Amino acid sequence: MVHLRHITVKKGRSFILEDVSFHIGRGEFAFLIGPSGAGKSTILRVIHLDEKPTSGQLVLEGRDAAAFPSREIPLWRRRIGVIFQDFKLLRDRNVMENVAFALRVTGARRGTIKRTTLKALSTVGISHKRSAMPEELSGGERQRVAIARALVHEPHLLLADQPTGDLDPESADEILALLTDLNHRGTAILMATHDARLVQGPHKILRIESGKLLPDQHT
Ligand SMILES: Nc1ncnc2c1ncn2[C@@H]1O[C@H](COP(=O)(O)OP(=O)(O)OP(=O)(O)O)[C@@H](O)[C@H]1O
Ligand SMILES: [Mg+2]
Repeated sequence: MVHLRHITVKKGRSFILEDVSFHIGRGEFAFLIGPSGAGKSTILRVIHLDEKPTSGQLVLEGRDAAAFPSREIPLWRRRIGVIFQDFKLLRDRNVMENVAFALRVTGARRGTIKRTTLKALSTVGISHKRSAMPEELSGGERQRVAIARALVHEPHLLLADQPTGDLDPESADEILALLTDLNHRGTAILMATHDARLVQGPHKILRIESGKLLPDQHT
């Protein structure tokens, strides 16, 4: 569903990504690993259409992303869920409102918003905290809320940028278990991580260093 073909991203004279090619199939779970500054977040930004490659081709569900009319870019972004290390919740809104907000901006009806929000909160196991403010939650709970927010548009693909980077090992394991569960229900996942402990299971492993994908992997 997502193909990167010879993707290069240059800033000035330096290569942030150089000739990166891989693909994420429908329902696949892939880890993206590599040292700090290797280019992991840049890859996720390219797929999310936040970063335009200098050269190479990005194919999203069979279509060349470079040919997307600008009005389609927000539609594609909505079909991908994104979660981050620092959760990026709205501090002045409670759990329910944080998740509902993602739907409200699309003009969904009030009943739909409520139903979809409650379902997403239940999927991530955080319904009991729906009235809490983000600051009243643990890191693991905050990441669950962020995942619920990412789920409201029923994404086919979830991009996770070091989602366990700020969590203790136990919470990190729980978040990985939740992502694995979502994957089993059909969502493809691309997860950037530094946490070698979590990189296990039958998943594709993409190793990146200094903007280049290391060979010897089944892409
Ligand atoms: N807008 C920019 N202009 C110039 N250089 C940039 C820009 N954005 C990122 N970089 C550089 O690109 C490289 C890759 O950055 P990126 O954020 O993708 O790394 P990363 O693998 O996600 O690292 P980390 O594990 O620390 O999050 C870094 O050297 C960074 O300094
Ligand atoms: Mg990063």
